[in-house]
Parts: sequence; C-alpha cells; structure tokens
Amino acid sequence: MNKNIYVTQPLLPKLEDFQIQLEEIWESKQLTNAGCKHNLLEQELQKHLKVPNVSLFNNGTIALLTALKALDLPYGSEVITTPFTFAATPHCISWNGLNPVFCDIEPNTMCIDANKIESLITEKTSAILAVHVYGFPCDVKKIQEIADKYNLKVIYDGAHVFSTEIDGVGIGNFGDITMFSFHATKLFNTIEGGCLTYKDESLVKKIYNLRNFGIQSEELVEEVGINGKMNEIQASVGLLNLNLYKEEQEKRKTLREFYDSELSKIKGIRIPKMPKNTSDSYQYYPIIIEEDYPLTRNELYDKLKKENIFARKYFYPLCSDYECYKNLPSSCVENLSVANKYKNRVLTLPFYGDLEEEFRVKIIKLIKINCL
Ligand SMILES: Cc1ncc(COP(=O)(O)O)c(C=O)c1O
Repeated sequence: MNKNIYVTQPLLPKLEDFQIQLEEIWESKQLTNAGCKHNLLEQELQKHLKVPNVSLFNNGTIALLTALKALDLPYGSEVITTPFTFAATPHCISWNGLNPVFCDIEPNTMCIDANKIESLITEKTSAILAVHVYGFPCDVKKIQEIADKYNLKVIYDGAHVFSTEIDGVGIGNFGDITMFSFHATKLFNTIEGGCLTYKDESLVKKIYNLRNFGIQSEELVEEVGINGKMNEIQASVGLLNLNLYKEEQEKRKTLREFYDSELSKIKGIRIPKMPKNTSDSYQYYPIIIEEDYPLTRNELYDKLKKENIFARKYFYPLCSDYECYKNLPSSCVENLSVANKYKNRVLTLPFYGDLEEEFRVKIIKLIKINCL
C-alpha cells in the first residue's frame, strides 16, 4: 500500500518541549483569557511580522470577521473582493451584513487585479478586501491609491503570507488591517488560530473588546462582540513553532528549487513567479497547466491521485460559483474571465520540508510523463 502524500504536513514542536509548556499552564491555572503565553506570543509576533500591533484570535476566520466589524463599515455596504480564495473571505463579508462584490484576478499572482477595482466602485462601496494568494503579494500600492481616492478601507486576508516582506516591510503593515491564519495547514500554526495586525493604535482596545464579547468592564457591555480568544495551549504551540518555522522555510526553499528546475523543463507547465522585491513565505507551490500541456488540470490531478499523491485544486470552485454567491451580478463569467480560466488550470503540489526524496522524484516523473 502506497503512503498518502498530502499538500502539506503540520509543523510540530517536540512532544517533550510541549510537555514543559503544558506543565507551566497547569501550574498557572490560567487556561485562556489573555494569559501569559498569549501575551508573550503577541509580543513575539510583533517582532517576527515587523508590525506595531498584533491581536491574537482563536482562528483566522473569527479574526477577519472581527476586522471588518472593527472598521465600522456601514451595514449593507459593498466590499470589493476576489473570488479566487477560500470560503472564509466572502463569508466574513456576508456575516457582517455587508455585500461581497467580486473583482477579477491578474494572471501571474492570481491576486485581485487592482486595475479592475475602480470600475466596480459605486456609492455603496465601503472597503476592499484583498487576499495575498499562495504567498504572492497584492499590488498594495495601487490598492491604497484607489482606497485613498474613494475613501475606502482596505483589509488584507494574509492567511498565506506569514513572514512575507515587501521591500523589507512586513506585509501586515499595508492597508487598515491584515489577518493571518495560524491553522494547522499553514507554515506557522497554533493548531487553530490567527491574528490581526494594524497600525492604528485606537484599534487596540476596540479589537480587544470585540474579541471578548464586547465586554468593556465588569458591568459594561457596549458592543456586539464575539468570543475570539486564543487559549494558552494554542499560544504555547505558537511560541514553540516560532523557533521552527525559519528552518522549515529553508527546507521548503530547497524543495522549491528542485521543483523549479525540473518543472521549468516541461512544456505546458508554468510556475508563477514571486515579485523580486518580495520575500517568500513558502506556503504553497502552485503550478499552471497551460493549453499546450498534453493533459488537462483535472487529468493530471487524477493521475497523481491514483498514486496516492493528493495535490489540491486551490481555488476551484471559485467563491462566485458557490450556491450562496452565484446569483450576484458580479459573479458572472464576463466579469471574472481570468479567474474562471485559472480555476481550471491551477494545481498546488505537495510542499513541506520533510517530503521524502522518493516522492519528490515521483511527483516530477508523473508530471513529466504525459500519459494517463
Ligand atoms: C485565504 C484564506 N482565508 C481565510 C482562511 C481561514 O483561516 P482559518 O482556517 O484560520 O479560520 C484560510 C484558511 O484556512 C485561507 O486560506
């Protein structure tokens, strides 16, 4: 029986190191509600992400939900976003009583096409929610220019860009708020978890309160908050993984170099390129199956799957194809021609430091030999 190979493997600290953390938590009797480990992780993340403010959350989705809430966007207003993302992105817009408006993507980074945003702006538009897909940065400069011109808020879903920098600036500094996910599948994980980063100091208290049911003090609840608190066990996994993720990035760098050199020789396989001024997070390894490759994306996916190699069709289907969004005017194929093309062409390959040599070679061999 062949071993199953998935797109990623979680980064795990040594069990004996985790045991020490658990003993400290048991000793403290504080399991959650901004405990010592939680507060220390917030401080450490400020350094790793090079940002002035970090608020931890129990997962990235609740963090993003809270980010939109914290910016006080008018109820029923429109938020321009991308369909080429995970379900959480448009769902957080909808759960806030806001309306997602889908914008097409650009073909190299597969992030929102900043040149197509302006034509979607109406008097109801209140914000842009862009996603740094696979670790590629959005055109943050152009997006900010548009936001300034039309007085819009900018929120980034940075679930895939832990530790990415643009010209040496931590990616969490752009826009009004950035969300990072620390889900087990992410480069840096706290099992489940996430955070918000932002420059505006006035958001510190607001986000703290919203994350804790809107409670301001023992007898005062002013806002409709939620339970977004990260617990001490999650935070301790985070503190340990902070010591490990750079080594994991180095290992993935070696794997990326191997994939790049082998796959660039294959006609019909395109490897999207990271902009030169951007440091890579090493979260995913996407490839584009072009028309001149002998198999379709689905055929290649099935071929790998038969060998127990589970590549992923991120992001197929598009969010604009979901039952809950497919009837929106902005979901029509004419508005999203590039996204509709790439949803059928993209495949993310297994990408983690401990992927054995045998499977690295096998994956390349299966992609090279162009028969089913
Ligand atoms: C682009 C994107 N946004 C949001 C999320 C949601 O994050 P979480 O799983 O931490 O809630 C994910 C993945 O998990 C994601 O890939």
